[in-house]
Amino acid sequence: MNTVIVGLQWGDEGKGKIIDLLSKSSDYIVRFQGGNNAGHTVVIKEKVYIFHLVPSGILRPNKICVIANGVVIDPKVLLEEIDKLKEQGIDVDKRLKISYLCHVIFPYHRIMDKLREIKRTHRIGTTAKGIGPCYVDKVARCGIRIGELFNDSVFKEKLKDNLKEKNAIFRKVYNQEGFSFKKLYDEYKRYADKLYPYVCNTKLILEKAIESKRSILFEGAQGTFLDIDFGTYPYVTSSSVISAGACIGTGLAPFHIDKIVGVIKAYTTRVGEGPFPTEFLPKFSDFIRNKGNEFGATTGRPRRCGWLDIFMIKEAVSLNGASEIAITKLDVLDGIKKIKICVGYKYKNQILKEFIYDSYIFSKVKPIYKEFDGWNESTSNIKSYKDLPKNAKNYLKEIEKLLSTSVSLVSVGSQRDQTIYL
Ligand code: GDP
Ligand code: IMO
Ligand code: MG
Repeated sequence: MNTVIVGLQWGDEGKGKIIDLLSKSSDYIVRFQGGNNAGHTVVIKEKVYIFHLVPSGILRPNKICVIANGVVIDPKVLLEEIDKLKEQGIDVDKRLKISYLCHVIFPYHRIMDKLREIKRTHRIGTTAKGIGPCYVDKVARCGIRIGELFNDSVFKEKLKDNLKEKNAIFRKVYNQEGFSFKKLYDEYKRYADKLYPYVCNTKLILEKAIESKRSILFEGAQGTFLDIDFGTYPYVTSSSVISAGACIGTGLAPFHIDKIVGVIKAYTTRVGEGPFPTEFLPKFSDFIRNKGNEFGATTGRPRRCGWLDIFMIKEAVSLNGASEIAITKLDVLDGIKKIKICVGYKYKNQILKEFIYDSYIFSKVKPIYKEFDGWNESTSNIKSYKDLPKNAKNYLKEIEKLLSTSVSLVSVGSQRDQTIYL
């Protein structure tokens, strides 16, 4: 069984926890897009692990973790992550595989990410990790792949070509100093030496895994409305976040995918700029942010918070082909008297019949809410659906009904055992 896990909102849905749970019964866990803009949290007892590039399955002994071709890699960050895992006694060396086709993030990508933000009239609020500029170079066909770091003449030529153009831009457009070839070359050769043992043909490894009936879990990063095509452009990330990205980002054909699980939070959050129709007013946003600990796992920025937007999630279910839903953070809604779900939008007083992809219009829509009575009881120690408060069950049933999709898992806390399977 090969399963894709995708976020159906704006990221941080709790994918890390769900991947950690599902990786128990998977053999391979694969990142297929994005880079260290992702921050996936797994909590095991008092230990908190935050993954940026290494698949969250690495905590399960014997699982093979793959960083496939669709991912962009900042080698410095990856090596730090590997070292930290090793310090904690996690065996990484034999279990981590990196595609030689992954594009590499250089310091000029990170600086460019920041400089472009400063120059924009409307900032995107990127993570400033160089993700966008690295994907730009991939598409512009001047990017450097990790496998090319091992071929001295190719690496030298490509780095020289890149610096010729980029240093001119830095100096002339941004009035900044450029980068020294020698310094970058030496630094990246050091990284290359360390990463060499992990780099290989991951498409082949995954195909062999499928041949021998092993199961693969595809670990989506970000969320559907940060997708480069279907997200709230330009307030998006630079990769294909939706489930179809799992094929492009690994080289596996679509018929290998058996199941797509969409992860949602019981409410909505967003980090960075961009439209957010159901966003709370500041005071309630602060309250939920503190209750749900809604601070970015990568940048520490406060996350914007709002009501659950089913109209948006319904579109995400369709874009991803999600056949089941995992809901996280239901416990954060404990004790809230009235809970709202957005079931549609009005634009210029007209009810919209279909989802709107124009970010300007999207920023002007007014949500249509359905209101529900909340529950007073704490849900965080509940282990089975039947023990949930009546109104919490109603909330979940309504979500299933509105999405015409079944909820297979409800999370009521960050620990592994704070999970209700349906
Ligand atoms: P991801 O990027 O989708 O993996 O999500 P993040 O890790 O960035 O953010 C989710 C946060 O919520 C993490 O701090 C998790 O430990 C936490 N979390 C996950 N599930 C639950 C839950 O059911 N309840 C609570 N209270 N926290 C949760
Ligand atoms: P996980 O995998 C939440 C957001 C940034 C910004 C936009 C573009 O943890 O869910 P980028 O640096 O990618 O160019 O930034 O995308 N963003 C995320 N928001 N969770 C993430 O990942 C994100 N990755 C990027 O905040 O708005
Ligand atoms: Mg995150």
